[in-house]
Amino acid sequence: MPKITYVAHDGVETVVDVAQDDTVMRGAVLNGIKGIVAQCGGGASCGTCHVYVDPENTKPLSQMHQVEDELLYFTACERKENSRLSCQIPVTEEQDGLVVHMPEKQL
Ligand code: FES
Repeated sequence: MPKITYVAHDGVETVVDVAQDDTVMRGAVLNGIKGIVAQCGGGASCGTCHVYVDPENTKPLSQMHQVEDELLYFTACERKENSRLSCQIPVTEEQDGLVVHMPEKQL
């Protein structure tokens, strides 16, 4: 299974195996990773699964759709160039080694 690294705002890293076809958000929720709330369960309507993709990332990521793009302006923490909604990042073997950073807060 692909390994995804979640970096909390305080710098603590947690590496988990995430099943293919799950999302980066579900990988966090199913493994008890704090820092991703995911209130809407992956429906791209809450913005509480905001992550910053590691700036050194070389993994191909899914295309950002318009709904995600617009919602990222209304998250609890600043939108950055590398912001994504983790529920909109499907996990495949290509994402093995992906690193995402959690913002200071989601609500
Ligand atoms: Fe709600 Fe991602 S879980 S927008």
